[in-house]
Amino acid sequence: MKINENYTLLQENYLFSEIARKVKSFSEKYPDREVLKMGIGDVTLPLAPAVIEAMRSAVEEMGKAETFRGYGPEQGYMFLRERICNYYRSFGVYVDADEIFVSDGAKSDLGNILDLFDKDNTVLIPDPVYPVYADTNKMAGRKIIYIAATQSNGFLPMPSEKTDADIIYLCSPNNPTGAAYSTEQLKEWVRYARERDAVILYDAAYESFVEEKGIARSIYLVEGAKECAIEFCSFSKTAGFTGLRCGYTVVPFALKRKGVSLRNMWLRRQTTKFNGVSYIVQRGAEAAFSDEGLKQIAKNLLVYRKNAKIICEALRKLGIWYTGGENSPYVWLKCPNFSDSFLFFDELLEKTGVVGTPGGGFGQNGEGFFRLTAFADRKTVQKAMEKFAKVFS
Ligand code: MLT
Repeated sequence: MKINENYTLLQENYLFSEIARKVKSFSEKYPDREVLKMGIGDVTLPLAPAVIEAMRSAVEEMGKAETFRGYGPEQGYMFLRERICNYYRSFGVYVDADEIFVSDGAKSDLGNILDLFDKDNTVLIPDPVYPVYADTNKMAGRKIIYIAATQSNGFLPMPSEKTDADIIYLCSPNNPTGAAYSTEQLKEWVRYARERDAVILYDAAYESFVEEKGIARSIYLVEGAKECAIEFCSFSKTAGFTGLRCGYTVVPFALKRKGVSLRNMWLRRQTTKFNGVSYIVQRGAEAAFSDEGLKQIAKNLLVYRKNAKIICEALRKLGIWYTGGENSPYVWLKCPNFSDSFLFFDELLEKTGVVGTPGGGFGQNGEGFFRLTAFADRKTVQKAMEKFAKVFS
């Protein structure tokens, strides 16, 4: 028996598990101190009433012999896939319901999709970025090249002709920096991928935060993207499904390599290894994208956007450099007086009880930076920024 030695190359803990561990030991040390959680990007507002209502009736259906449902289609029920198509259409993107795959979330699919690719591919990953991309490829033993996202390129790296890659990860609006590509910028990435026959894995989990015209909500706004890109999205941040679990991945029919359809490969993979998302959750997701549901989730998004504004305003007043917070629930700041973001994390927690995420956890170029999430509840955000003001003014 041989274990997968690639696991020894990983940090001991996944970033957010490590943060949770540190917070737990802080609370054990100071049981009376308040912890203001703005670390993991987890939503705090309850599910929309339309979602609850739909899930309630789905539960009722499951309790009656005439309407009970067993295994569903692995790809997701058509009622939900059609709703997702309508949602895409609302911002000018046309996808076929048979190109959509419903799953338990973008994170799982982002890891699972690697089943389709040979180990012998070179992977291009922006640094800093959501740690799942690098970790899942390290587990598989793939060669990774990092592309620097820095203050000077606005944390939006563009392709370089000198670098070749087979699999390219893009996350926009970006986790952790909040930077978001314009459709024009994505055209460059699509051109670069097509010239190399590379595949872009595009993480659009935060697309619903885009407000600015010209900023892309989907890579499929770019002509030719369906021949080179797979898009991952989720109900987690858009509709508060982090605990409920539902996401969707688009693998277009046009995406083929050596005559083989990646969409058909993914269908084969999912039908073999996945039994679908629960009927009840899919009914909830369908309701989230109904007219009524969309209005209700828009209200929640407004609350998070306002939180982001409160964070940005407080940092601006304190003269702390930051970016993000627009088109994104994340605010990315320069650690005041610290170059080591993990030390800053410890210091901030110790002095204020505020939990953020150290930029270094997202890659080398994230060192010296720190991420705050606007998904916390309003009181937490206000208190946290007051504490910031006390310590840093
Ligand atoms: C984050 O905090 O980066 C995200 O919540 C993690 C995730 O979505 O898995």
